[in-house]
Amino acid sequence: MCGIVGYIGHQDAKDILLKGLEKLEYRGYDSAGIAVMNENGVHVFKEKGRIADLREVVDSNVDATKGIGHTRWATHGEPSCKNAHPHQSANKRFTIVHNGVIENYEQLKKEYLEGVELMSDTDTEIIVQLVSKFVEEGLSVEAAFAKTLALLHGSYAIGLLDEQDAETIYVAKNKSPLLVGVGLGFNVIASDAMAMLQVTDQFVELMDKEMVIVTKDAITIKELDGTVVEREPYTAELDASDIEKGTYPHYMLKEIDEQPLVMRKIIQNYQDESGDLAIDPTIIDAINEADRLYIIACGTSYHAGLVGKQMIEKMAKIPVEVHVASEFGYNMPLLSEKPLFIFISQSGETADSRAVLVQIKEMGYKALTLTNVPGSTLSREADYTLLLHAGPEIAVASTKAYTAQMAVLTILASVVGKSKGHLADFPVVKELGIIANAMETLCDDKDRFEMIAREYLSVTRNCFFIGRSLDYFVCLEGALKLKEISYIQAEGFAGGELKHGTIALIEEGTPVIALATQEDVNLSIRGNVKEVAARGAHPCIISMEGLEQEGDAYVLPEVNPMLTPLISVVPLQLISYYASLHRGCDVDKPRNLAKSVTVE
Ligand code: F6R
Repeated sequence: MCGIVGYIGHQDAKDILLKGLEKLEYRGYDSAGIAVMNENGVHVFKEKGRIADLREVVDSNVDATKGIGHTRWATHGEPSCKNAHPHQSANKRFTIVHNGVIENYEQLKKEYLEGVELMSDTDTEIIVQLVSKFVEEGLSVEAAFAKTLALLHGSYAIGLLDEQDAETIYVAKNKSPLLVGVGLGFNVIASDAMAMLQVTDQFVELMDKEMVIVTKDAITIKELDGTVVEREPYTAELDASDIEKGTYPHYMLKEIDEQPLVMRKIIQNYQDESGDLAIDPTIIDAINEADRLYIIACGTSYHAGLVGKQMIEKMAKIPVEVHVASEFGYNMPLLSEKPLFIFISQSGETADSRAVLVQIKEMGYKALTLTNVPGSTLSREADYTLLLHAGPEIAVASTKAYTAQMAVLTILASVVGKSKGHLADFPVVKELGIIANAMETLCDDKDRFEMIAREYLSVTRNCFFIGRSLDYFVCLEGALKLKEISYIQAEGFAGGELKHGTIALIEEGTPVIALATQEDVNLSIRGNVKEVAARGAHPCIISMEGLEQEGDAYVLPEVNPMLTPLISVVPLQLISYYASLHRGCDVDKPRNLAKSVTVE
């Protein structure tokens, strides 16, 4: 959450910073600000709201070739102009942007900043005031910055300007993502390479507890004790068109439509020269050595994990537990003798998941990360990585990453299964190809889903999703999608559980979306639909070709029954999209949320 950028070079810094922040808005969008510096000093512009609002208050007459910027998701202090970054020291010499959370800021305030009048309610301001204090006490800026960093507990990605030094941006990172981008006669910093692809595709990764002195011609990476670290840049393999909306009105719709392509990309990326599915043998060995797999994830990725468990248990015959990351650390189950941990995370930056990764590594266990972002924290810190190949996902509501997670878990389950002699003839490549075609058929039927959204969700205050077996897990995801972007209170339930309490909530006209794609529970879920209809609910059944049908239903193209979650979610994504649109919500940037949840 929160995104930072910085630029030092020869072009107009304002423009580069604002464009960069627009690309980082997915990380938080309740307020934003930039500070640019020229011979007249540092000029700070901030505004509550989006980058578009910030643009309105930036003085276009200020010319500057150096600056830093920030887009915020509030943690300490309400979203307001006062709490927006950049923040400045009391004497205005130092200016900072920060992404992360300083856990001991209250204590630092008491210990070091007695009598200093703070201008904001943020934890960030403490950092800039400390640097200023240590400089006033006689330290060099670099030494003061290093001393401050050593005092901080928590996460940070920092860009710091010194009004008395036109040549330098001071940078540091711990737990929050940060890259330095390298150019000819300029250098940049960014929380995500996407923000600075406009000027460079060469980036240097930073490790935790590193500090960087960035000038327009050089970057010097140092550990906090001053040891210089050499690191070569890498080329960010991102196509600028991947991060544009093109002709789509929203990223979410574009990303839903990209799912068939993502399926095909995943197949290609996991095939060897002979067309067989292949996964790094060290990963397969690690899984085969484990007596139990623990999947750790949050939100949508957790929902993908629930489906993944079924795939792995059925195809590879290894027991799997799935846990919500934010609970696992405090409520750890009794682990098996030889556990292996699988982290599922679109962003690879989710703080809750990372906290578990750190914990289990300290316990001496191995971890595999499934992520969409190569080089992300969870990827770097795990022993093994499998990439999702979904391309950048920008809409806050996850769609293509979810189906990509399930596809990669399917491939993993089948390759492990094959290595153990199970399911040798499950034609995964062919089945995923059928999935891609079915997704295409569904994406071509948008009008139908728009009508369903209009009929069922235009005015309702709540909605239930019911399903059994694999369908139940997709119902959890459907409900999450609907609530996060349309603000309709939505819940996913196991069909059989309704009569144990939840059915009391059914009233005249309550929308109930039922998934019925599994033959063994087809009749029982339809029985549940009758139960709610008898109590006034307005049911909408989504079923699958080849199953016994009774009454009205939207019928999905037939796919392998084990893989139905990959397509049954598509109507739910589209219904949520149109519900959000009809209700006038901000589809891509729902309130209170951010794409990358880097605070626990
Ligand atoms: C919902 C959504 C979130 C994320 C969750 C985990 O649409 O996107 O629930 O799935 O915040 O994020 P990652 O997968 O990046 O770890």
